[in-house]
Amino acid sequence: MRRGEKAVLLFIVLVVAAGVARPLLQGEEKHDRDIPFYSTATHEVARDAMDIYRKSGCKDCHSLWTLSDMTQAVPAPMLDGIGSLRSEAWLYDYLSSPNPQAILPSRLKLKYRMPSYATLSEGERHTLAGYLASLQVKDWYLEQTKKAEYEKLTGKEYPK
Ligand code: HEC
Repeated sequence: MRRGEKAVLLFIVLVVAAGVARPLLQGEEKHDRDIPFYSTATHEVARDAMDIYRKSGCKDCHSLWTLSDMTQAVPAPMLDGIGSLRSEAWLYDYLSSPNPQAILPSRLKLKYRMPSYATLSEGERHTLAGYLASLQVKDWYLEQTKKAEYEKLTGKEYPK
């Protein structure tokens, strides 16, 4: 192959590569921006934990893996990203406590408050706590939330 031909070939390869890579990279970034929550748990742990979650009625009060702001009957905190806020040990103790409000005080009416899950087996509480601790929130979302909150409260631009 002559030198000129090589250069042309290289040029074509680069153009094609860039064309393929760009939508891929953009797609990646878009996806990243869409869902700020993720879990580091294995499929097995996630499946077992979600079984316990469903049968224990957690979903009657909490939301998890739903981005939309549903109007909930119960004003319970959403659990997406909770592992960025609480440790596994904290979550285990909280679920195991006969009186969760001794750990996290509540201003809600008794029937809306977090019930005690001390009656679940130790293994089930461990699985749930482990899974909840695996629920993380991405840094950019925390930053964005902090910024929006600051600007809403102060009416000033968030300091960089
Ligand atoms: C009757 C409604 C209700 C049910 C059912 C319920 N929760 Fe809660 N949960 C709450 C409320 C309300 C709070 C906030 C504290 C309070 O007011 O008692 C809370 C708090 C929590 C917190 C602490 C959140 C934080 O900010 O640190 C976790 C974790 C949690 N719940 C997990 C669960 C899990 C897991 C289940 C199922 C095993 C469950 N909850 C079932 C209402 C509920």
